[in-house]
Amino acid sequence: MDMSMNMKRRTLLKVIVLGDSGVGKTSLMNQHPLYVYKKFSQQYKATIGADFVTKELQIDDKLVTLQIWDTAGQERFQSLGAAFYRGADCCVLVYDVNVVKSFEALHNWREEFLKQADPAVPETFPFIVLGNKIDIDGGNSRVVSEKKAKEWCASRGNIPYFETSAKEDYNINEAFLCVANTALASE
Ligand code: GTP
Ligand code: MG
Repeated sequence: MDMSMNMKRRTLLKVIVLGDSGVGKTSLMNQHPLYVYKKFSQQYKATIGADFVTKELQIDDKLVTLQIWDTAGQERFQSLGAAFYRGADCCVLVYDVNVVKSFEALHNWREEFLKQADPAVPETFPFIVLGNKIDIDGGNSRVVSEKKAKEWCASRGNIPYFETSAKEDYNINEAFLCVANTALASE
């Protein structure tokens, strides 16, 4: 079989999800319809190392396999080397709109990713930012405004920004569709 022919029609997109511990990375993945079971758990169980889900999507005339890697926010559970980040097509940065520290950490997560993944053109590497947990206290306990987050994204080459709630299953489809399209566009 001619593998090269096959690869022209199929595209594998590697997506890496990063962000502080507890911002909801795993919860977002569990809510995504890509996942076999759609559920939300109140209970926090730290991710150890990394875990991925895959799903085939039809985008225009392309069959796209999205491979989404959920990583550990806790430093002691991070065990991923540069080889893991290399070849990524998109990086999703997640923070909690109620925790300013998790927003401030985006800078480091982005820098660290670029250092490890070492993409050909770092300035144009596709990132997507998700501000999660907007449901908490009806949004009254949020400490990072949408405006502030959008400014952060705009000043870094217009990174697409989505506000999400893994608990309420809000805006997650839209965010991951953007991930797929963005990664595909940069192929
Ligand atoms: P690490 O694996 O340690 O990096 O954490 P994580 O980013 O994967 O966080 P996780 O998804 O485990 O969620 C942490 C806690 O936040 C859990 O108790 C979740 O139930 C809760 N949580 C996640 N997303 C939301 C959300 O959108 N709204 C609310 N209210 N709680 C959320
Ligand atoms: Mg996790």
